[in-house]
Amino acid sequence: MPEPEPPAAHHADLVVFGGTGDLSMRKLLPALFHSDRDGRLDPRTRIIALSRGGLTDADFRGKVESAVRPGLHTGDAASWDRFLGRLRHVSVDVGAPGQDGWGDLTRLLGGYEDVDRIFYLASPPMTFGPFCRAAHAAGLVTPRSRVVLEKPLGRDLEGAQRINEEVGAIFAEHQIFRIDHYLGKETVQNLLVLRFANAFLEPIWNSLWIDHVQITAAESVGTPGRRGYYDHAGALRDMVQNHLLQLLCLVAMEPPARNDREAVRDEKVKVLQALRPIAGTEARRFTVRGQYTAGQVDGEAVPGYLDEPDKTPPTDASRHVETFTAVRAEVKNWRWAGVPFYLRTGKRLPFHRSEIVVQFKEVPHSIFPGGGPNRLVLRLQPSEGITLHILAKEPGAGEVTPRAVPLSLSFADTFRTRVPEAYERLLMDVLSGNPTLFMRRDEVEAAWRWIDPIIATWEADGAVPGPYTAGTTGPAAAHELLGRSGRAWHEEDLP
Ligand SMILES: NC(=O)c1ccc[n+]([C@@H]2O[C@H](COP(=O)([O-])OP(=O)(O)OC[C@H]3O[C@@H](n4cnc5c(N)ncnc54)[C@H](OP(=O)(O)O)[C@@H]3O)[C@@H](O)[C@H]2O)c1
Repeated sequence: MPEPEPPAAHHADLVVFGGTGDLSMRKLLPALFHSDRDGRLDPRTRIIALSRGGLTDADFRGKVESAVRPGLHTGDAASWDRFLGRLRHVSVDVGAPGQDGWGDLTRLLGGYEDVDRIFYLASPPMTFGPFCRAAHAAGLVTPRSRVVLEKPLGRDLEGAQRINEEVGAIFAEHQIFRIDHYLGKETVQNLLVLRFANAFLEPIWNSLWIDHVQITAAESVGTPGRRGYYDHAGALRDMVQNHLLQLLCLVAMEPPARNDREAVRDEKVKVLQALRPIAGTEARRFTVRGQYTAGQVDGEAVPGYLDEPDKTPPTDASRHVETFTAVRAEVKNWRWAGVPFYLRTGKRLPFHRSEIVVQFKEVPHSIFPGGGPNRLVLRLQPSEGITLHILAKEPGAGEVTPRAVPLSLSFADTFRTRVPEAYERLLMDVLSGNPTLFMRRDEVEAAWRWIDPIIATWEADGAVPGPYTAGTTGPAAAHELLGRSGRAWHEEDLP
């Protein structure tokens, strides 16, 4: 199959605040390189990294050469050199708005006011407001500017509102792109196509035919060296508030009238607003928290969360933070009444996998022994794809025995083209000004409104999370959460 033509490139200056950090080096710069190599960056587009590091352009290019290039399939040297040629570095500190660096940045951007200007804030969230104010004070925010905000957007509703207010004081809502990289994954966009471009699913996409939905984001990695961040986040804030709830919205939303920025996001907000609140007794009953202890992952011995190597020793916050959570959510509307949505995420699980499992009900009357329900599995990582488990007759002359067999669609095998990383897609959307896959302010705040009472209950109880051994599938309570209604997590093809 021939490669599709790349969409038209947009001339822009991309200013990455936090351009020397981990996110930049591991995700943004590789994504930009691939886009450049595939002809999706305008030849004039510049990538300007900001940090306090005092680097020259040459220093920064050297850093990118050693930190980014080894992990890439760079193709020809010319495309790498062209990419390096786009890179600049300016030293600024948001804590010092009058400092020289802001003058350097102003000079570099001077004369490019008619070009789209993207400020990508790949820096800690407390710098978002100060950065926007400093950029505005330096006269850098033009009508053609956009700003991209990385997660986490606050650690509760109040914090998110504060950031939204601060950024909103400088940028209009249509200029603000709140990124959730899960939305850039092919499977996630395919979920919309699967649901809304095929006729056969919609009539059965409801509580009459669907028993329950599971959304899992499991990581085998731990948190070495990240205690400072993780102690104050935890799995619920870090993964459920954004990624998992976004996936839930895409499964549960009504068909939008158009595939456009507002119609899709309007439908997602309605789902968040329809989530049954979970607080107090319900939070104790319908949520689970865990923290990993020492164990084995992929055949290697790993320490428990409290013993992970780090700059600082564990604190009381470390002892109370969850590295695993499972939640039973419910969308209170006509389509989904009574259908549980089970969400779970955790570190140091035995597999690295993100997937959505839609489990259908059993047939109303089975004439065959055995069998089981149909399942639609949408795999986000690794190897994005869709599998429908249907029942087929086991070959043989004896009794007719149904067996669940997979009908699989692997994007890589079917389309025989490289599946782009989520950040590639999202960065191109930012450059072309398309916010459909980014979160609107009301979405982020509606998600926090649902999360906050769960956290308030956990904090009021003051209990430490239940332990689970690294390399296992989480605390026993996570299995009981489904087990008490006769259900189980989808774990059949685990390693
Ligand atoms: N890493 C990931 O995989 C990932 C994934 C999703 C979201 N995020 C989010 O992305 C953001 C960045 O994460 P990260 O892991 O890349 O952090 P990081 O490695 O600590 O990098 C932070 C960057 O911000 C710069 N910075 C910090 N304070 C600054 C200031 N006052 N003035 C100028 N520059 C400043 C740092 O440069 P200097 O210290 O040299 O100034 C560095 O370039 C965070 O909000 C994080 O939650 C990260």
